[in-house]
Amino acid sequence: MSWGLQNRLAQIINPETGKTVLLAVDHGYFMGPVSGLEDPAKTVADIIQYCDALSPTKGILHHSIDPNTSTPMILRASGGGSMARQVPIENDATGKTRVIGLEDEVITCTAEEAVALNAAGVTISIYVGTEMQRQSIDNLATMTREAHKYGLPVIGITAVGGELDALRVEGKEAEFAKYLANAARIAVEHGADIVKTYFVGKGHFDKVIGGCPAPIVIAGGKKEPAQQALEFTYMAMQTGAIGVDMGRNIFQSKEPVKMIQAVRDIVHRGDSVDAVMSRYNLKKDD
Ligand code: R5P
Repeated sequence: MSWGLQNRLAQIINPETGKTVLLAVDHGYFMGPVSGLEDPAKTVADIIQYCDALSPTKGILHHSIDPNTSTPMILRASGGGSMARQVPIENDATGKTRVIGLEDEVITCTAEEAVALNAAGVTISIYVGTEMQRQSIDNLATMTREAHKYGLPVIGITAVGGELDALRVEGKEAEFAKYLANAARIAVEHGADIVKTYFVGKGHFDKVIGGCPAPIVIAGGKKEPAQQALEFTYMAMQTGAIGVDMGRNIFQSKEPVKMIQAVRDIVHRGDSVDAVMSRYNLKKDD
């Protein structure tokens, strides 16, 4: 591993604890101005100090983040899918259409751009099991090939959506864990230095961790009551994750400053959910 890659990884993952709290604020790249992130500069103002690195897009970096910050930046580098749309089915004379959505991504920020922006790393999503599987895995493989020339770490994201997300929503945790374990491993096999995935029920997440030789961080997903978000964070850490790359469960919380500190104490100190809720006077539903 080059010095540059090691040094950037040390900016992302705290060398003392081996853990990390990444604050995700890249949602606008496909969701537009989501609640809590309408004004990213305002959103991060009071909470950026509690994260180990921030995950914006290059656009938000330019417009909303103070260049004097000492917080490392991990740039979203794949995108372009955004809203679902109907497209014609190739070689189909009947004129039928199919739906293509978020999974239709390309590389939107090159390794050179990321280095010029002094990024500590980049993120690329893969959409395993979708029609865009090959294209998205190629995005990851291409980015790791280029990024590693500059000592730039790549976080591979096991993106989910549509039918796959239904597995989680319907509580089919074993199936969802199997899917995430496959996707996480595929991300590593194509060069990811860190894998960003989702927590999946107690007793299942160990399958994801066990098959992934790279460190794993979890995204938070949709906003849940504070206690629930802290519980899955705690369980993910206890199972072997090295941290979070969390957005909505922090910036959409009624108490973002308290919430990120609570997450931080669970991640870096291994504190219990009860301990951090009481320390920061968090309510169950914050
Ligand atoms: C999705 O891939 C985006 O990159 C988000 O950064 C990611 O989902 C983490 O944010 P949240 O915790 O809100 O899910």
